[in-house]
Amino acid sequence: MTAPGATLKSSLDIKKIREDFPILSSEVNGKPLIYFDSASTAQKPKVVIDSVSNFYKYQNANVHRGVHTLSQEITVAYEKARVTIQHHLNAAHPHEIIFTKGATESINLVAHSFGKKYIQEGDEIIISEMEHHSNILPWQQVCEEKGAILKVIPMNEAGELMLDEFEKLLSPKTKIVAVNHISNTLGTINPIKAIIELAHRNHTPILIDGAQAVSHTLVDVQSLDADFYCFSGHKLFGPTGVGVLYGKEKYLNEMPPYQVGGGTIKTVTFKKTEYADLPLKFEAGTPHIAGGIGLAEAIKYVNLLGLENIAAYENSLLEYATIELNKIEELRIIGNAKNKTSVISFVVEGLHPFDIGTILDQLGIAVRTGHHCTQPIMQHYGIQGTVRVSFAFYNTKDEIDTFIKGLERAIKMLK
Ligand SMILES: Cc1ncc(COP(=O)(O)O)c(C=O)c1O
Repeated sequence: MTAPGATLKSSLDIKKIREDFPILSSEVNGKPLIYFDSASTAQKPKVVIDSVSNFYKYQNANVHRGVHTLSQEITVAYEKARVTIQHHLNAAHPHEIIFTKGATESINLVAHSFGKKYIQEGDEIIISEMEHHSNILPWQQVCEEKGAILKVIPMNEAGELMLDEFEKLLSPKTKIVAVNHISNTLGTINPIKAIIELAHRNHTPILIDGAQAVSHTLVDVQSLDADFYCFSGHKLFGPTGVGVLYGKEKYLNEMPPYQVGGGTIKTVTFKKTEYADLPLKFEAGTPHIAGGIGLAEAIKYVNLLGLENIAAYENSLLEYATIELNKIEELRIIGNAKNKTSVISFVVEGLHPFDIGTILDQLGIAVRTGHHCTQPIMQHYGIQGTVRVSFAFYNTKDEIDTFIKGLERAIKMLK
């Protein structure tokens, strides 16, 4: 066990890394900011901020539509960003990478377009009990529109998906499975390789919501054999308003466009429109150009640190914080999966999470409170909400010590 005051071992130079994130040296409510809400949105390193700012200062032009130099140069840069993302996910082709607004839009795209093409009345869609609302609502809509049925993989008390129950749900009626890689509320890392294999044994394609995973783990969509994999740029230290949908070429080619308009076409007459090839078929309108370029910079930054090093360090933060939190008698951690990432949800007997969060905020400590867009998880545990702390590689053991002291103080004040 690590003693308070000691530092955690890491191959990363955390002090130096923190200097890359301007916001981490700021104060909130007169106290140095302790940012424990990276699962909600991660902070941005200077290289990302600079790339966005440089775009507007020196490169601003539209992509894919101009003969002038600026437009051509930025088109090259934007397409290079797509290739960076392709390599990061080890996708087979750049055109299997679709730029979206974020994970939510990626899931809506698949639900809408895949649903339109492949789902009929009486078909079944499987999701899990621990999904973010963004991976529930789009499927509920498809079910409503098509007369399909939503099935839900249950989880156990530790917050782990019950794979034997998943196997029982799979049938010839199952048309698609959609589950998250990592739960934003419980921190559970789901065994997605096994889940994908089970779906494929049933000849069912699967979407993995990787919104919480890409900042903690390397993802290889080909070795996983994922049919769709999506995430948001802002949780991977990139800009807000940009995200990614990876899809296998064979599905993306067959699926109809999600939104239509400028950029998505080859020819338009009033009689007939012929749509563009991938990826433009799915990218209607002017995209978030600075966002795509900034996201590629974020990926390069994370890869310089090394996702294995990041995961190892974050695990030590998780382990230390879990031990310290468990020392507080009235406190109960929600989500005790064997395989967890650096997200901890907890409740304190008799106290409202919002009150705890408000006091911590006065101490400069940013935590998330509420249902975290996962009301079915709250229903499972019979609670209204939790306090959630989520760590990134720029957090430290000293910050955890300050947080624990602040939490004890908050509990004393509120009891
Ligand atoms: C697991 C998961 N899926 C989807 C989302 C939605 O992401 P966004 O709001 O960036 O679209 C989130 C956001 O918290 C998430 O944690």
